[in-house]
Amino acid sequence: KPVICVVGARPNFMKMAPILRALKAHEPPWPMLLVHTGQHYDKDMSDRLFEDLQLPRPDINLEVGSASHAVQTAEVMRRFEPILDAHVPACVVVVGDVNSTLACSLVAVKKGIPVAHVEAGLRSYDRAMPEEINRILTDQMADRLYTTERTAQENLRLEGIAADRVCFVGNVMIDSLLHSRQHARSPADTVSAGGGDASLVAAPEGYGLVTLHRPSNVDEPETLRFLLEVLAQVAQKLPLIFALHPRTRANIERFGLGHLLDATRVALLPPQGYLEMLGLMGNARMVLTDSGGIQEETTALGVPCLTLRENTERPITIEQGTNTLVGRDAQAIMRGVDDILGGHGKQGRVPEFWDGRSAERIVADLWQWVQRRQIPADN
Ligand code: UD1
Repeated sequence: KPVICVVGARPNFMKMAPILRALKAHEPPWPMLLVHTGQHYDKDMSDRLFEDLQLPRPDINLEVGSASHAVQTAEVMRRFEPILDAHVPACVVVVGDVNSTLACSLVAVKKGIPVAHVEAGLRSYDRAMPEEINRILTDQMADRLYTTERTAQENLRLEGIAADRVCFVGNVMIDSLLHSRQHARSPADTVSAGGGDASLVAAPEGYGLVTLHRPSNVDEPETLRFLLEVLAQVAQKLPLIFALHPRTRANIERFGLGHLLDATRVALLPPQGYLEMLGLMGNARMVLTDSGGIQEETTALGVPCLTLRENTERPITIEQGTNTLVGRDAQAIMRGVDDILGGHGKQGRVPEFWDGRSAERIVADLWQWVQRRQIPADN
C-alpha cells in the first residue's frame, strides 16, 4: 500500500523534500503519492520552491487556494477524502502546522488510516496563533509523532499522548538546508533580481534580513506601522533586505505605510525562492523575523536571529541556538541589534540530531511501524 505525503503551504515544502528522497531510496520500494492541497499557489509561494528543492511534481493538486480558516480547512477536507478512498494508503504523512496539516489529518484518522506527524509537539502556548490550534489537534490525532527537539516530548506527555507514539528524530528542515546549502544563490544577485539596490548587501557593516507575516504582526494597522517604524530605525544602522510575504505586502499597501521605509536603506523584495533565502540568511549579519522555520535555520547556520514575537514554539533555538525573543518592544529590538553589531551576538550550537539525517530516521521508523501494524496481534 502506498504512503500519501501531504504539502500545502510554503514551509511544508522544505520539510517534505528530504522525506520524499528517503522514501525514494527505501528498500524495499515503498510507493508514494504527493498531494499538494494548493493552500499556497503563487509561483513565488509554491512552484519556485518545488524547483529549488527538486521536489517531484505533485501527483494530485487539490487547488483549494485562499479563504477563511473554516472554508480553507473544509475545502481541503472535502477534496482530500476521495483521494484516500481511491488510493487506500498505508498511512498519511503530514508536516508542520498549517491548515492543510490539520485538515488532511482529520480526514485520514476518521477513515482509520494512520497519520504520521512530522514536527510534532512544538507549543507556543499561545492559542491566538492559528498554528497552535493546528499543532495541538494534529498531535492528538496522529498515530506516529516525530519530534525535532526534546521539549516536544514533554509537551506531548502533558497532553496525555503516550510516549510510545512519539519518536525523537531531529529536524527535517535542517536536512533540506544541509542538502541545498552549497547551491545557495548570491545575495547581490537576489537583490538585483528582486528590483532592489545590490550595493545594500555590500555595505561594510553587512546587512540584516527581515521577514514578517504573522497575522498578529501584520494584520492590524497600528502594529504594522509600529514595526515598520522600528525597522526604519534599525535601517539607519544596517541596510535591510525585506522579503515580503503576499499578506504583508498587501497590508502595507492597504494601510498606506510604504513611505515608512527608505528605499536607499531597505530593499523590498517579493517572496524569495529557497536557494535565494539560504544565500540571504547565510550571509546576513542578523535576521529579524516572526517565522518559525527561520528561527531554526539561523540556528543551524550560526547567524544571530531576533524574533519579533512574544513567544516561540521552538525554545531550543533560544537555549542552544542563536535566537533571541525581542517581542514587539522597540527597546528590546534596538538592544538586540546593538548587541549583534557590537560583536555580542549569540554564537550558539547546532542542536542534537539536526544533522541532515532526520528524514532517514523517519522513514526507517515509519516502515517498521507500518509492518508491525499490519501483522495481526495474535500472529
Ligand atoms: C500560512 C500558514 C502559516 C505559515 C505561512 C507561511 C496557516 C494557518 N498558516 O499562512 O503557518 O507560516 O503559511 O507562508 O496555515 N496568498 C497569496 N498567494 C499564495 C498564498 C497566499 O497571495 O500563494 C495570500 C492571500 O491573500 C491569502 C493570504 O496570503 O489570503 C494568506 O494565505 P494563507 O494560506 O491563508 O495563510 P498564510 O498567511 O500564508
